[in-house]
Amino acid sequence: MITKDLSIICERLKQGDLIGLPTETVYGLAANLFNSEAVSSIFRTKNRPTTNPIIVHVASISQARALVKRFPEKATLLAKHFWPGPLTMILPKNQTVSGLVTAEQENVAIRIPNHQTALSLLNQLDFPLVAPSANPFNRISPTTAEHVESYFPAIYTLDGGPCTSGVESTIVGFEGDEVVLLRHGAISIESIEAQVGRILNRTAASEHASLPGQHKKHYAPTCSLIVTYEPLFMLSTVKQKKVGILWFKSVQIESIHVEVNLVLAPSGDLAEAAQNLFSALHTLDKMGLDLIIVERLPAHGLGNTINDRLDRAATQ
Ligand code: TXA
Ligand code: MG
Repeated sequence: MITKDLSIICERLKQGDLIGLPTETVYGLAANLFNSEAVSSIFRTKNRPTTNPIIVHVASISQARALVKRFPEKATLLAKHFWPGPLTMILPKNQTVSGLVTAEQENVAIRIPNHQTALSLLNQLDFPLVAPSANPFNRISPTTAEHVESYFPAIYTLDGGPCTSGVESTIVGFEGDEVVLLRHGAISIESIEAQVGRILNRTAASEHASLPGQHKKHYAPTCSLIVTYEPLFMLSTVKQKKVGILWFKSVQIESIHVEVNLVLAPSGDLAEAAQNLFSALHTLDKMGLDLIIVERLPAHGLGNTINDRLDRAATQ
C-alpha cells in the first residue's frame, strides 16, 4: 500500500510494523531501532542473512552521537559537510544499539538521509529507524514507491517520489586516523578526498575486502546481464534471442537483433546515470528478456559506483 500520510506511517512504526521509507538514495525497509521483534522481521521479510548488518537512520548529529562511544574528528568533519546526505559512517556503537542490528559487531552504520519526507518522519518519532534497501536479498534496489510495492505489497510505503541520487549511500569507516572506503555510493571518492585527503579503498572490488555483507552478487535482474565497453561486439558473440541493451549516453546503432535499446543519461552526466540506473534495470527486468547487455561507464566519479553495481548485477 502506498501512502503520503505520515500519521499512518508513524502509527505503523510505533506498532512494530515495517514500512517503506523514501530517501534520496534508494527506498528503505524501515523499523524502530529499539524494537528487536521489528528488527528481526526486516531480516525475515528481505530474506537477508542475519550476518549482514543494517544501517541506522537518524534526524540529527546529536541523535547519532547518542548511539556511539566515540565520534572521530574526521567523522565530525565529514558529518558537517555531507549530512544530511548519502554518506554512511561506521562508528563504535554503545549499549543502546542491539547486536541484532550490527550482526554482533562492535560498530554501527549511521546516516542522516537528505530527503524532506524522511526527515519529517524521523523528527516526529522518538526513535531512530533501521533500514536496509527495500528489495528482497540480491534483487534490484527500489527507487520509487511502486518498486517497493511490487516487492512487498502488504506493507505501507511512504511515497516520497522517485529517488534523486538513485544509488545507495557511500560507506566509510575509520582506522586510527585514516578514513576507509567500504562501499562505493552516491558520493564519489573524489568528493570525500576533497574534505579529508587520501582515503583507503577497502571495497569489495579491492584486494583488502573483509566486510560482512559485501556479497558479490547483488542488485540482480532475473535474466542474465553482461557489462562491457563494446555492447555491439558483445551482441555479435551471444546466442540469446531476446536481448536488451542499456547504453550510457546514446544508442550507437539501432540493431534489428535487439528487442529494446534504453539510454541511461542522454546528457552524459554521471549523476543522471546514477539516478536512472535501477529504474532502467527494473524496466528491462520486466520485459521478459533472455539477456541484458549494459555499456560500462567511465571509471571516475560516480562511474565507479555505477560500474560496481553493474558488476554485481552481472555476477552469476
Ligand atoms: O543508501 C543507503 O545506504 C540505503 C538507504 C535505505 O539508506 N540503505 C542501504 O542498506 O543500502 P543496505 O542494507 O542495502 O546496505 C547496507 C550496507 C551493507 O553492505 C552492510 O553490510 C553495511 O551497509 N553495513 C551495515 N552496518 C554495518 C556495520 N555495522 N559494519 C559494517 N558494514 C555495515
Ligand atoms: Mg541493499
